[in-house]
Amino acid sequence: MCRAAIFAVFVSALSAQSIQFIPAKKVFVLSSPHSTYAMGVSPDGELQHLYWGAALWRVDDLPAAERKRDISSFDPHEMLEAEEYPGWGGPRFYEPALKITRADGDRDLVLHYASHKIDGDRLLITLRDIKEDVEANLDYRIYPDTGIVSRRVQIVNRSKQAFTIESAQSATWNLPEGDGYRLSYLSGRWAAETQLNREPIHEGMKVLESRLGESGHNLNPWFAIDQGNADEQHGSVWFGALAWSGNWRITVEQTPYKQVRVTGGLNTFDFAQPLNPGQSFDTPEFFAGYSANGFGEASRLLHNLERTHIEPGGATARVRPVLYNSWEATEFNVDEPGQRALADKAAKLGVELFVMDDGWFGKRNTDNAGLGDWTVNPQKFPNGLKPLIDHVNSLGMDFGLWVEPEMVNPDSDLYRAHPDWVMNFPGRPRSLLRNQLVLNLARSDVRDYIFGFLDKLATENHLRYFKWDMNRIFAEPGWPDVPLDQQKEIWRQYVLNYYEILRRLREKHPNLEIESCSGGGGRIDLGVLRYVDEVWTSDNTEAFDRLRIQEGFSEAYAAKFMSAWVTDVPNMNHRSTPLSYRFLVAMQGALGIGSNLNKFSAEDTELATKMIALDKRIRETVQMGDLYRLLLPSENDTASNQYISKDGKEAVLFAFRHSQEYNTAPPTIHLAGLDPKATYKLETIDNKLVEKQPELSGAYLMQNGLNLILRGDFDSTIVLLHRVSKD
Ligand code: GLA
Repeated sequence: MCRAAIFAVFVSALSAQSIQFIPAKKVFVLSSPHSTYAMGVSPDGELQHLYWGAALWRVDDLPAAERKRDISSFDPHEMLEAEEYPGWGGPRFYEPALKITRADGDRDLVLHYASHKIDGDRLLITLRDIKEDVEANLDYRIYPDTGIVSRRVQIVNRSKQAFTIESAQSATWNLPEGDGYRLSYLSGRWAAETQLNREPIHEGMKVLESRLGESGHNLNPWFAIDQGNADEQHGSVWFGALAWSGNWRITVEQTPYKQVRVTGGLNTFDFAQPLNPGQSFDTPEFFAGYSANGFGEASRLLHNLERTHIEPGGATARVRPVLYNSWEATEFNVDEPGQRALADKAAKLGVELFVMDDGWFGKRNTDNAGLGDWTVNPQKFPNGLKPLIDHVNSLGMDFGLWVEPEMVNPDSDLYRAHPDWVMNFPGRPRSLLRNQLVLNLARSDVRDYIFGFLDKLATENHLRYFKWDMNRIFAEPGWPDVPLDQQKEIWRQYVLNYYEILRRLREKHPNLEIESCSGGGGRIDLGVLRYVDEVWTSDNTEAFDRLRIQEGFSEAYAAKFMSAWVTDVPNMNHRSTPLSYRFLVAMQGALGIGSNLNKFSAEDTELATKMIALDKRIRETVQMGDLYRLLLPSENDTASNQYISKDGKEAVLFAFRHSQEYNTAPPTIHLAGLDPKATYKLETIDNKLVEKQPELSGAYLMQNGLNLILRGDFDSTIVLLHRVSKD
C-alpha cells in the first residue's frame, strides 16, 4: 500500500475517535496521524498538560496527571505543573490564562475540572473556580487532516457578583519539558513586513504583540518553536497562529524548571472587560500544531488548514485570478478614459480581474480629502461607474473597487456631519495620520453606516471584488458615549463589528470577493482570513525585497492569499530588476499587475502576455499545492521555492540569483517532496538548466539536484516538472 493510502486509512480509522477520554486515568487524547495532544485531570482537579508531539499509537502509555512535590517555599508544586488554562490564584506567578477582579475585591482564581463533553472532533471542558461560580469553558477542536488543534474559551459569570476580566487568553500551550528551544517569529514595519527571526529561548518571557488596533505590520500573530535546531525538512517544530485582527499578545515563557509555555489571545494592554452575573465572554481562536519534519511541514500543515477550514468557501474556493490594480500606475489620478485605456491593455495581457484603486470617490485628489464620502466623483466619472464596469466586463474581466471604510478625512462631508463618530477622548487632540482619523467602528451606528454604503455599492454596481484598506493605526481610542467601565471594550468590539460587516457582505453578495489591505500587510492573520480571499502583502512591491517578505509570509500563510504584483522599475528603493524576474517573484503568490501599462514597450507586452499565460498553467500548483522552501533568501545568494500539486503530478521550481560574485556558480538545488521512484519531464522557458536530460527521476532530482545557469545580478528562472511515470 502506498504512503498516501496508509495515511488515508489512518485518517479514517482515527476520525471516528480523534478525541478519546480514558476514565480510569482521567486522560483526554486528541489524535491525528501527524500528532498527539494529551491532558489529564490531577488528583487536585487541575487540568494538566501531558503530551504534545509526534503521533502515539498506544494511548495506554500516557500517565495520569499528578500533583508534583513542592521543591521549596519559593518553588511550590503549582509552579511546576503544566496547567492547560491556569487562573491567577494561589501561588501561581507565571503568565496566567485568566485573571479577574471581583466586585468585592477578591482576585484569587483557581480553576479546577468540572465536566466535559466530546462532540466529534470537538471537546468541551468546563473548569470552575474552587469557590465561586466562575467558569471557563475550554473549547478544543482537532482537525485530523493536519493534527492542528484550535482552542478558544468562553468565560461565564455564574456567581452573584460582577467581576472585571483583566486577562482572558485563548490558550496556554505547554511544550515538552526540556532545553534547546528556539523561537521563530515574524517582525517588520510598513513596507518591510513579515521578516523571519529565529532566536534561542532563555529563561524569562518574550512578548509578541500588537497594541495598534489591528494585527499590525510590526509583529504577526504567528510563532514556531523548534528543538534541536530543526531545519526546513527535519526536526520537531511546534507552531501556532492566532485568529484575531486587533490587539493581540503571545508570550513565550521559559520558567526555571525547563518549562516552555506559550500563552496567547487578546492583549492585556488597556484591557478591562466587566462581566455581570449571567454574562459570558468569548475569546478569539488560537490554532497550534506539531511537525516532526521541520519548518517546511509546519508551514504546509498551516497552509492546508487555511485553505480547507479557514478561508471563505474552504476547499471549494477558486484559485486566485490574475488581477490588475491601478494604484502604482495612476495613484489618485483616476478617471473613466484613463481606466478604460488601462483596462484595454490589461485584458490583452490576459488579466481576469481589473481593480480600480483609490481616487474614484468624493473630493479625493490627494490623501487630504474625501475619505468617508463614498459617492462617485462626478468630475472623474460623469456617468457614474457603470460605463467603466460595463467596458471592463465586455473585455471579459471582472471589476473590483478600492475602499477604506473605517476612515475619514476631516475634510469630508461625513466628518462635518458626524465628528462624534471618530474615536476620541473629549477635549483631547485627534492625531492625524495620513491626514485621516479612525471612525469608532465599535459603535453600532458606524457599523451600520459602513455596511450600508458597501452593500449599496455592491448592489448597484456589478462588483466582484473590494480591496478593503486601513491606512493608519489607532490613536486616542476613546468611546465617550458608553458608560465608563465599558469604554475599553472599544478595542475588541471594533474588530467584532469589522468581522460582522465582512460576514454580512459575503452572505448578501455570495459572488463578492474581498482583499484585506492595511497599508500593505498590516492586517494579515487567521481571523481576517475567515472573511477574505487575499491579503495585500506589502506596499513594497520591489521584487528583491519581496523575496524576504514572501519568505516570512510563507512560514505562516498559503501562497494563494499572498497578493503579489509586478510593478515598474526603478521601484521605491531605486532598484531595477528585469521584468521576467519581477514576474517570477510575483507568480509565487496570487499574481497581480500594478505597472503603468501605457509605458509598456512591445517587448514588455509580449513578455507579460507570455508570463501571464504561464501563470495560468502553474497557479493551481502554486496556490493549492505544497510549498518546499529550498534555499532561503535570508541565508543564500540564491533563493528557491518549489511547489508540488496535491496529486503529485506537477511541480514548479523557482530560483532567483541576487548578485553573482566573480566566477561563482549558484548552488545546486536539491528538490524535495517528489516521488523518488517516479520520473519527471523537465520544461524550461529560458534554457537555464545545466542538466540536458529531458527526464529525470525524483531520486536524482532530490539527491543529485539541479544546476541552473544564473548569472550576474537579479537573474531568475522557472522549471516545470511533469510526472511521467512511476517506477
Ligand atoms: C495603501 C495601499 C495601497 C493603495 C493606497 C491607496 O497604501 O496599501 O495599495 O491602495 O493605500 O491610497
